[in-house]
Amino acid sequence: MAMDKYEAVFISTPTIGNLVPTVEFAHHLTRHDPRFSATLLIITVPERTIVNLYTKSLATAASHSQSHVNFIHLPTVQPPTPDQYQSSLGYTSLFIDKHKPHVKHAISTLASTTSVAALFVDMFTTSMIDIAQDLGIPCYLFFASPASFLGFMFHLPALDTQLAVAFVDSDSHSGFIVPKDSAVELIVPTFSKPLPPSMLPSHVLKRNKDGYFCFLENARRYTETIGIVVNTFLELEPHAIESLSISGLPPVYPVGPILDHAGASRWHPDGAQQQDSIMEWLDQQPPSSVVFLCFGSMGSLEGPQLREIAIGLERSGYRFLWSIREPRKGKLDLPGEYTNVEAVLPAGFLDRTAGLGIVCGWVQQVRVLSHQAIRGFVSHCGWNSILESVWHGVPIATWPVYAEQQMNAFELVKELGLGVEIRLDYREGSDLVVAEELERGLRRLMDGEDEVKAKVREMKSKSRMALMENGSSYKSLTSLIQEISSRMQGSEVKY
Ligand SMILES: *[C@@H]1O[C@H](CO)[C@@H](O)[C@H](O)[C@H]1NC(C)=O
Repeated sequence: MAMDKYEAVFISTPTIGNLVPTVEFAHHLTRHDPRFSATLLIITVPERTIVNLYTKSLATAASHSQSHVNFIHLPTVQPPTPDQYQSSLGYTSLFIDKHKPHVKHAISTLASTTSVAALFVDMFTTSMIDIAQDLGIPCYLFFASPASFLGFMFHLPALDTQLAVAFVDSDSHSGFIVPKDSAVELIVPTFSKPLPPSMLPSHVLKRNKDGYFCFLENARRYTETIGIVVNTFLELEPHAIESLSISGLPPVYPVGPILDHAGASRWHPDGAQQQDSIMEWLDQQPPSSVVFLCFGSMGSLEGPQLREIAIGLERSGYRFLWSIREPRKGKLDLPGEYTNVEAVLPAGFLDRTAGLGIVCGWVQQVRVLSHQAIRGFVSHCGWNSILESVWHGVPIATWPVYAEQQMNAFELVKELGLGVEIRLDYREGSDLVVAEELERGLRRLMDGEDEVKAKVREMKSKSRMALMENGSSYKSLTSLIQEISSRMQGSEVKY
């Protein structure tokens, strides 16, 4: 008897944070069950050089390997004009929408030769649900942020009413709404504790801007999917996952942690050479002695903040590896590399700390985190970074910058006890974290033994068990696959 063959199609938001876990999940699915192959429909954003380098490398790698994951680069579209959007998320959202005819064409073409069993949309590509509905293809959501934040998104339409009543437009330059009563707290079922309003994403705090409408509109559509795959695992977020399972929402499948263990080594232009010298330096450091500071693919800090960090690091006396990116220049740019980083640091800093630490640009985070010299991680708390850190058992000190990172930091420190706080509510354009504050955070992160460090070690082994045969994420993926295949068999009966 011929084996049934299923094709899963993915359409991802063109950012590293969404794309990388989607690609890894597609590989994970096809490796887990040989009946599946996967096709990723790739949106090319002309301005996003790094994203494009990544997607090009994928296509090249796929053509040389036995992998069952294919990539289709969608035809390019005319980008939105500046009068059509207010924020980079507004831009991205309009830009994604314009690909709908191409997505429909690509899926129809695939469906003429293979059995398309599922379309997976992600956090910000839910407008493609229309196409799944048109073509009669079961549609799922792949969610690359935590279950806690998924719950927040589900709750956002209700929260919107509360924000409209209990918040006012502030007149400060931030353009944020602020609570009328400073005691106001938000109840979100996936958090066991009330959420302070300062944890909300910047886009949500700008309630009259396009980024907010984009959040709200996507959140509303999550309920139109028939299942939600989340890159998390039951042992990490038990409260959030259990509260989602009793909510009457589409079933949630925690299948993580799905990580890109090779990291950017295969494709980043600052590849091998600089990275090798960083790893060589780490090899020379004592075990568990170095603090690693890195703020993500889209995160960068301004000059005055960099100077406070430098002073704090120097005062703390710890060995350090510090990744610095130059702030974006325009709304749509990503951070770049400093051509002269010395100019933004305190005079003589690099000389005084030579031997103690190194300052670098883009860095292969997962490779660094896996090194035995690393003791602690000062992180922007992007979810992929948190999962990588947990996987390697490295405790985090929280310094959120953008997206849902403030909420992730809150969850890590206040709900899960898996991180120490530098800040929970820092964001781009915030006040400075002064040197003393950083130094205090570093001491909590790096000194001695405590409950947080013990919990992180325990979670490291749980994260690995979750993926093993009969582990929680393994079982969850098995039940997702059963769901998809029974739906296909059901539909075949009709013909
Ligand atoms: C997983 O569970 C099945 C069914 O209970 C069992 O037969 C199998 O031996 C288990 N595998 C492992 C590795 O424990």
